[in-house]
Amino acid sequence: MTKVLAINGSPRKDGNTSVLIRTILAEMEKKGIETETIQIGGKKVHGCLACMKCFENRDGKCVIDDDIVNLCIRKMREADGIILGSPVYFLDITAEMKALIDRAGFVSYANGHPLKHKVGNVTVAVRRAGASRTADSMLHFLLANDMIVPGLPVIGIGRDIGDVEKDEEGMDRARHLGKTMAQLLKHFIRHPLPA
Ligand SMILES: Cc1cc2nc3c(=O)[nH]c(=O)nc-3n(C[C@H](O)[C@H](O)[C@H](O)COP(=O)(O)O)c2cc1C
Repeated sequence: MTKVLAINGSPRKDGNTSVLIRTILAEMEKKGIETETIQIGGKKVHGCLACMKCFENRDGKCVIDDDIVNLCIRKMREADGIILGSPVYFLDITAEMKALIDRAGFVSYANGHPLKHKVGNVTVAVRRAGASRTADSMLHFLLANDMIVPGLPVIGIGRDIGDVEKDEEGMDRARHLGKTMAQLLKHFIRHPLPA
């Protein structure tokens, strides 16, 4: 079954990033795609140690094994599609999302780019400023991994929990991304790209 994994960098469980992710995933679920969300925000997530053990071991894992990052790395590898979501914190992604990107990025480089040709995109919850830069920080991870990224990032405006639901354009963009990703995923299942 086609699977999409979303990773939420917000520490708020049912916050605005969560609403955006749920809206994107709901469109894919309507098309029979299995979805799962892992919330990394608010959890203990260690930064990269620059120990280079991932390049020595090449076992698909980060040497730090007491947090949620190795689970995320495994589930990203198993998924056909990936959504990364973060609120804007001081004009950029949250610390947990940054730690995930650094560590999952190096593990991926050390292990032959297993995320290549997966379909993905990103979503950002913003009160006022920094949405594009925040989206870019996550997009660079997808692009560096040779993933296929349809369309623009989904940006939703809001401050308090649930505010983003009043941003009609943001919610429309979320539904649109979900539909587009579902179409692309179905297409690639029938016509896989050459390795
Ligand atoms: C530490 C912190 C820093 C923030 N920095 C910004 C910022 O630079 N720009 C902005 O527009 N909003 C900023 N915000 C507001 C959040 O991006 C906004 O409330 C967002 O909707 C939260 O999403 P969430 O409910 O998914 O956590 C900040 C919030 C916090 C807690």
